[in-house]
Amino acid sequence: MTVRAIIGAQWGDEGKGKIVDRFAEDVNAVVRFQGGNNAGHTLVIDGHKTILHHIPSGILREGVENIIAGGVVLDPFVLLGEITALEDRGVIKSPAQLLIGSECSVIAPYHKALDVAREQHRGATTIGTTGRGIGPCYEDRVGRRAIFAGDLLHPQRLREKVTQSLLEKNALLAALGAPTFEADTVITQLVEIGEKLRPYIRPANIRVRELLDAKASILLEGAQGTMLDIGHGTYPFVTSSHTVSGSACVGVGIPPQAIQDIVGITKAYCTRVGNGPFPTELEDGLGQELRDRGSEYGSTTGRPRRCGWIDAVALTYAARINGFSSFAMTKLDVLSGLPVLKVCVAYELDGVTYTNEVPVDADDLARVQPVFREFKGWTEDITHIKSFEKLPQAAQEYVNAIENLSGVRVAYVSVGPDRDETIVRNS
Ligand code: IMP
Repeated sequence: MTVRAIIGAQWGDEGKGKIVDRFAEDVNAVVRFQGGNNAGHTLVIDGHKTILHHIPSGILREGVENIIAGGVVLDPFVLLGEITALEDRGVIKSPAQLLIGSECSVIAPYHKALDVAREQHRGATTIGTTGRGIGPCYEDRVGRRAIFAGDLLHPQRLREKVTQSLLEKNALLAALGAPTFEADTVITQLVEIGEKLRPYIRPANIRVRELLDAKASILLEGAQGTMLDIGHGTYPFVTSSHTVSGSACVGVGIPPQAIQDIVGITKAYCTRVGNGPFPTELEDGLGQELRDRGSEYGSTTGRPRRCGWIDAVALTYAARINGFSSFAMTKLDVLSGLPVLKVCVAYELDGVTYTNEVPVDADDLARVQPVFREFKGWTEDITHIKSFEKLPQAAQEYVNAIENLSGVRVAYVSVGPDRDETIVRNS
């Protein structure tokens, strides 16, 4: 039995889906524990690309149970679309493969509308959300107004909750100049979708604890990244959930000591979508080159991702918060052919040097001067290399530098998008 958490160590889009799919080969269950369809986890198998927003990345593995746990917020319309597409491809054959937690909060159409309307009125402090209603839905949970997936199966309870919620939401939407919602229309839509999802909706967290009792192997699949965590990221330019490893315990309802292994996922460079500080950002031609080489366009919104050098300060900070047992480094192949590579080893700000923590205030983080160390690049195509020792010397040195700076072993190196293009290093 192993319980392993997969956590984004940067600003999301690190390639968690690929690594989860890789580890899912020999687990019983994959569990999503936070976030919603702001995530876009990409899996490539034999050149065929699948992008998952809600469904855990174990779905392409036979015999794996995929669980959307209570910490997740879910858009039932998007989820049904995803299920239908996977049914049509013959991937989902039975509800035994997918459990939608009855305790998940539902993203209703008015949450999306509010997310978009608020962004339009934020001016200079626009966050650049995905517009999927994530923030407003989490607000409703904390405000004790959540609609749960289980409520979709109880029309009377749903009616009361939606009617109550729209009293406030319509006032807010009207104040922001956005269209308001008819309670009856929303309720009808949600009841209809609830019926379609009924076979999949069951208590999720109890199921995960049953699996723990049965000594099952479980992967806990994080979404977004540490620097987007609502408490430890670059607030307010963050998502509305906790993205760090502790969130896996809270989102699923399991004790911290149940988790034996915590793998931090980092790209070999760094990207960010949306606004907010990004100390190692490359705003020149090189940033565009990285974007083109790495196809750095959002898998959820299609937005171009901001690109920059890898940031060992932020990675070390992430390691300290999450307790990473190891790193998986993705997209090393994207750097092949660049003559010089840079790694941010420190920030300077107002006479203070930061090497393993980041300034708490996002305005301060926006002002830091990154200190870079240069590394030699390599020219070889590394996509088909299967062992670390066969990588060009310069690539090994680059990976080893991240290991030495962060104090966390880089145990997995991904050298291409496909399932098989991952090097597992000997311990
Ligand atoms: P929200 O999660 O849609 O509210 O967006 C808040 C911030 O998090 C924005 O900057 C988004 O671009 C970013 N974000 C949310 N989800 C992801 C993700 O899965 N990958 C990368 N960035 C994300």
